[in-house]
Amino acid sequence: MAGLLFSASLTALLASISVSAVPIVKRNEYTFILNNPYGDAIFELGNVSYLANTVHPKAVLATDCKAATSLLPITVVKTNESTISQATLEGIISSYLEADDVFSHDFLDGLYISSTVRSSLDASAVEYLGSFSTSFIFVDDSISGDGPFSKISIKSSADMPAGPYLASIEEGSVSLATVYRLCPDTYRTFLFGAYNTNDGEQNHSPLGVFLPKFWDPMIPPLAGERVAIKDLYDVKGLQTSGGSQAWVYITPIANGTAPSVQQIFDLGGVVVGKQKLAQFASGANPWEWQDEHYPFNPRGDGWLTCSASSFGGGCSIAAYDWLDYAIGSDTGSSMRRPAAVSGTYCQRPSQGMISLERVLPLGGASDTAGVFSRDPYKWIKFAKNWYSPSLHQDASITAAEPILQDFIANMSRILNMTVKEFNFTATVQNWTDPLASNLTTLTASTSVINTWSTWEVIGRSLTTAWVALFDGRFPPIDPARRPGWRAFNESRTNQTAYNAALVTKNIGVEWYERELNESPDASYLAALPKGTKITGANICPIFGCADFTVPIGQVPYQSNITFHEEMVPVTINMVVKRGCDFMIYNMIEKLVDEGVLKTVKTGRTAY
Ligand SMILES: *[C@@H]1O[C@H](CO)[C@@H](O)[C@H](O)[C@H]1NC(C)=O
Ligand SMILES: *[C@@H]1O[C@H](CO)[C@@H](O)[C@H](O)[C@H]1NC(C)=O
Ligand SMILES: *[C@@H]1O[C@H](CO)[C@@H](O)[C@H](O)[C@H]1NC(C)=O
Ligand SMILES: *[C@@H]1O[C@H](CO)[C@@H](O)[C@H](O)[C@H]1NC(C)=O
Ligand SMILES: *[C@@H]1O[C@H](CO)[C@@H](O)[C@H](O)[C@H]1NC(C)=O
Ligand SMILES: *[C@@H]1O[C@H](CO)[C@@H](O)[C@H](O)[C@H]1NC(C)=O
Ligand SMILES: *[C@@H]1O[C@H](CO)[C@@H](O)[C@H](O)[C@H]1NC(C)=O
Ligand SMILES: *[C@@H]1O[C@H](CO)[C@@H](O)[C@H](O)[C@H]1NC(C)=O
Ligand SMILES: *[C@@H]1O[C@H](CO)[C@@H](O)[C@H](O)[C@H]1NC(C)=O
Ligand SMILES: *[C@@H]1O[C@H](CO)[C@@H](O)[C@H](O)[C@H]1NC(C)=O
Ligand SMILES: *[C@@H]1O[C@H](CO)[C@@H](O)[C@H](O)[C@H]1NC(C)=O
Repeated sequence: MAGLLFSASLTALLASISVSAVPIVKRNEYTFILNNPYGDAIFELGNVSYLANTVHPKAVLATDCKAATSLLPITVVKTNESTISQATLEGIISSYLEADDVFSHDFLDGLYISSTVRSSLDASAVEYLGSFSTSFIFVDDSISGDGPFSKISIKSSADMPAGPYLASIEEGSVSLATVYRLCPDTYRTFLFGAYNTNDGEQNHSPLGVFLPKFWDPMIPPLAGERVAIKDLYDVKGLQTSGGSQAWVYITPIANGTAPSVQQIFDLGGVVVGKQKLAQFASGANPWEWQDEHYPFNPRGDGWLTCSASSFGGGCSIAAYDWLDYAIGSDTGSSMRRPAAVSGTYCQRPSQGMISLERVLPLGGASDTAGVFSRDPYKWIKFAKNWYSPSLHQDASITAAEPILQDFIANMSRILNMTVKEFNFTATVQNWTDPLASNLTTLTASTSVINTWSTWEVIGRSLTTAWVALFDGRFPPIDPARRPGWRAFNESRTNQTAYNAALVTKNIGVEWYERELNESPDASYLAALPKGTKITGANICPIFGCADFTVPIGQVPYQSNITFHEEMVPVTINMVVKRGCDFMIYNMIEKLVDEGVLKTVKTGRTAY
């Protein structure tokens, strides 16, 4: 949720107000539950659980306060009005309630009113504040107000966002700890929740608690754009697993953050946790994993696959209103397939759009990083800033055809395009270069590219370490990788073969960019109809183009789980020449402006 990330330099005064009026809203009381392993406080207000970063508070403000109290939920309110009235305060509080799902009336046990201009609380404000039965009112030096106030000077200032905090009032100071609301991951898409430790060293900590009230992992979102991260990316302070407990056993906690994730922090994003993935980003189906419990897809009857490998991202975005974005990676179709089955937006960008340093590789030269979102405008905004430089359908595929044709008609009308249908296989095979026209050779090159990188970075060290640690044993890894790594033969697949495969791939990319430059064209994703040599999903990994998954509708199917009619999402893919990603974003924006593409909602149905 956006909107509460204000910051200002504060000089504050502490004041307590004695009140007697009846509260407008009955507040739930602060209830301490436990400290997590890092010393931060888990507490409840009514039936909602929160984490407060009490070890490293957001701000510690010096006061000449003599009294100390227990912990207190408070709200930081910012205004620049010269006269603060009841209407000013009511307006601000209702805007916070609307914009932020962490904030609630329960945080009005205390208030800190901050202003950068000289201002005064008028009589209506004083009376209104009194009606809260508020324990403490903190006000900036610059704010005057006649009322039953005993003012206490604050001798330091701090930059802090408005919103809810947990205050600890000590003799001579008050600490304000950032508050995170804990949300249960009911669809099991995360490995663990995480939060910024605020220790000045850019570390994150895992949430690290199990709450018997909830059997699901708890995820701590905070006001600000919330982002989940596929567990291939390093975040300083957190373990990177690649979806393998064996890998965790032999690797330390990340001592740095992937530049692509750092860019998200720099843009003001908040990382809320690490998400499940098919082990080492293989294409294995969820029911084929051993280390993680499979996630659930909120769409349809709830038993549809989340596909692979960035499935945690796709299904979580389709599931949770409290999550804005999920970062995945796409080598073969690892984002486009989860987006297709969850009915969400995602892209396989042009290769080279963003650094993949500190990201576990699958196929070094085919890996790309992308983002899932429900809202096309927000998705495009994120992508433009961030890249600063399946479901096995049977009957429903044909039911989806009219939606596809309708969408193509709308798109060509709005964008004044002519629709040209062509046979991709025939076009490629018609080319005269025997290498570039041979899709078998091109696909084999991609296979070398995709197996060598994972072997070199993960497979070799994991199998070697396990042999040494456990008396010659092979590591416990999922079936997707076991036969390939067991039989891995470096006299066949090696750096030389990898380099040769890159040359072959490059011939294909150059051909594609020269001959197939009439994009965008729609293609089927993971289906291999008669007469085709490769799936639509494989075109860009081979030819280096960008491929965007866009939800366009939904079709009914009869569920064998609920024995009821359910809806399954319909998505299309738009392919564009490498480097022309922004052209597609602009085109999609136009289609949203025209109402052809829409924001999808969370839950059983996308629309
Ligand atoms: C939590 O309490 C609020 C009222 O305080 C109520 O509206 C809501 O339904 C409750 N939620 C659950 C999950 O019990
Ligand atoms: C108050 O004024 C300061 C300085 O002009 C500005 O940075 C801040 O955004 C303003 N805050 C509000 C809540 O309007
Ligand atoms: C981070 O860890 C790696 C090994 O995992 C080590 O080589 C490197 O020196 C460490 N860097 C820092 C800054 O500690
Ligand atoms: C096409 O446009 C019409 C009118 O704007 C709209 O009713 C229809 O839902 C659109 N179809 C698709 C698949 O976008
Ligand atoms: C659409 O394209 C046709 C042919 O290229 C052109 O004559 C016409 O002016 C275009 N219309 C718009 C609205 O751009
Ligand atoms: C194949 O090449 C021939 C000769 O250049 C051309 O006439 C034909 O249209 C091409 N077919 C396809 C499918 O591109
Ligand atoms: C493609 O290359 C493979 C292996 O080099 C070869 O066996 C096959 O005949 C070639 N296919 C075509 C259509 O040239
Ligand atoms: C590895 O590949 C080489 C070359 O193809 C072959 O001679 C060798 O027997 C293979 N080794 C094993 C263990 O299969
Ligand atoms: C690397 O693989 C190629 C074939 O893929 C083989 O010809 C070459 O001998 C291998 N190199 C080494 C050092 O094993
Ligand atoms: C596309 O071209 C291939 C190769 O020429 C052919 O086998 C296939 O039947 C064609 N598909 C369609 C739908 O025309
Ligand atoms: C449901 O089960 C029937 C009977 O086994 C089968 O024919 C049908 O394909 C199934 N439908 C789906 C959507 O799996």
